[in-house]
Amino acid sequence: MDNRPIGVFDSGLGGLTAVRELEALLPDEKIVYFGDTGRVPYGTRGAEVIRRYAAEDCDFLEENGVKMIIAACGTVSSVAAHIIHSRSVPCVDVVEPTARAAVEATKNKKIGIIGTAATVHSGSYAMVIDCLLPEAEVYAQECPMLVPLVENGWIGEDDMIARLAVERYLAPLKEQGIDTLILGCTHFPLLVPHIAAYLGEGVSLISAGAAAARACAEQLSASDSLREGLGGGTEFYVSDKGQNFVKVAKTFLGRECEGVKVVDMTK
Ligand code: DGL
Repeated sequence: MDNRPIGVFDSGLGGLTAVRELEALLPDEKIVYFGDTGRVPYGTRGAEVIRRYAAEDCDFLEENGVKMIIAACGTVSSVAAHIIHSRSVPCVDVVEPTARAAVEATKNKKIGIIGTAATVHSGSYAMVIDCLLPEAEVYAQECPMLVPLVENGWIGEDDMIARLAVERYLAPLKEQGIDTLILGCTHFPLLVPHIAAYLGEGVSLISAGAAAARACAEQLSASDSLREGLGGGTEFYVSDKGQNFVKVAKTFLGRECEGVKVVDMTK
């Protein structure tokens, strides 16, 4: 038994999709969430900057005494894997568990991946799939415009802009006949109604945040490090609280995001 909290971080609010899953799976765990909302997006930045930000995010969580870190960000997991896996506490990234879930889900071995530019150019998901299922055909598509749509809350089922953007990005993947799609960025689960409506029922959608949360739960259980029977709870930290914060955070988390504290990452 280990009563220290689990640390979760993302470039912004997308990682709250992992927190949502973690709270459902492990209600007795304490969670510390950090969203780097003052510096989002990471996905359009160069590798050196992404790695520096990832190290600072991990520093913050370690200073808060966490027992494990979830890098709930496709971009960090893809570009800064060696940084996050060399910390003093174990780290779960989104790439390996998500690729594994996709390999388990596919029947026709045609897997699509959507993510930020940095994620897609890194080839991270494709490399893991290639190891697990070498005969798989993998089709990756960067979708940079989807992140700001989600951050601004333009995600409603009747939102024409979201519908058209999703259709434009996913058309080449649909043409290839994929039966499984990796939502390789933790912002994308919020666009599932549009994505599912366009791709149709036969396509499995794999959420990176949820897969990482499940992997974290398995690892803690295997190492006998779960916190048991004490009642959980989540503390939220961000580097900026923009005007849309309350509304957008609630959409990601599925409930009110209370007691959020702002930290200055320049110190
Ligand atoms: N949360 C990031 C990811 O999962 C997307 C937003 C960004 O570009 O920072 O890749």
